[in-house]
Amino acid sequence: MEIIKVKDYEEMSEKAFSLMRAVLDDNKHPVLGLATGSTPLGLYGKMKRFYEEGFSYKHCITFNLDEYLGLPEGHPQSYRHYMYENLFNSTDFQGDNIHIPDSTGDPETICNMYEHSLDSNRIDLQILGLGGNGHIAFNEPGTPFDSLTHVVDLTEQTREDNSRFFERKEDVPTQAITMGIGSILKAKKIVVMASGAAKADAVYGMLEGPVSTDCPASALRNHPDVVLIVDEEAASKL
Ligand code: F6R
Repeated sequence: MEIIKVKDYEEMSEKAFSLMRAVLDDNKHPVLGLATGSTPLGLYGKMKRFYEEGFSYKHCITFNLDEYLGLPEGHPQSYRHYMYENLFNSTDFQGDNIHIPDSTGDPETICNMYEHSLDSNRIDLQILGLGGNGHIAFNEPGTPFDSLTHVVDLTEQTREDNSRFFERKEDVPTQAITMGIGSILKAKKIVVMASGAAKADAVYGMLEGPVSTDCPASALRNHPDVVLIVDEEAASKL
């Protein structure tokens, strides 16, 4: 694993963008694995600026990691809404090339179809953030490393962490669809970003703890091409 230590969130986002640019330059039809949350917002800002400067994303295919179950369509906290708000509406990604787990149909069928699409479009670059407990996507501690796209029950900790985006904690959904750890490991290249003291334990577990399902991010040590971009605060326990 390559580890890039940076000063802060801004420098982390810049580094991630330079790795993203290399993948955009090297591939005719880049397949991008995208995340939501606070971590990739800086990167998405830079991707939007790149579009304003003349780059077109029309030829790019995207897959999002996860989506809540049980939110009404168009809900402002759905990950679909987040992606349109923070990236797709201000760029020219094409609707047909955008894949986000559908939260409205039969979850089992949706999971199987999603994994099938992933197999037909291998991800060139997967962007990941880290949960405070080391989760990646919605794969919580205990998730098998060979798991594929599946329905998860969200832990109390994750619901608590995400409640800042909802009016009340009770409004945070209890389930989600997520790419599995095995689905994520199929990507050709993975870039993990970690910023801030709240991520220090997860970064420690990912790099220096045992490779174990207790820390889902430790599975990334089994992948041949992972880059971790970590800022000073997130690296403080190494
Ligand atoms: C997002 C996702 C999550 C987040 C993680 C970190 O699609 O799957 O695993 O990457 O919870 O969230 P932030 O970036 O908000 O700290």
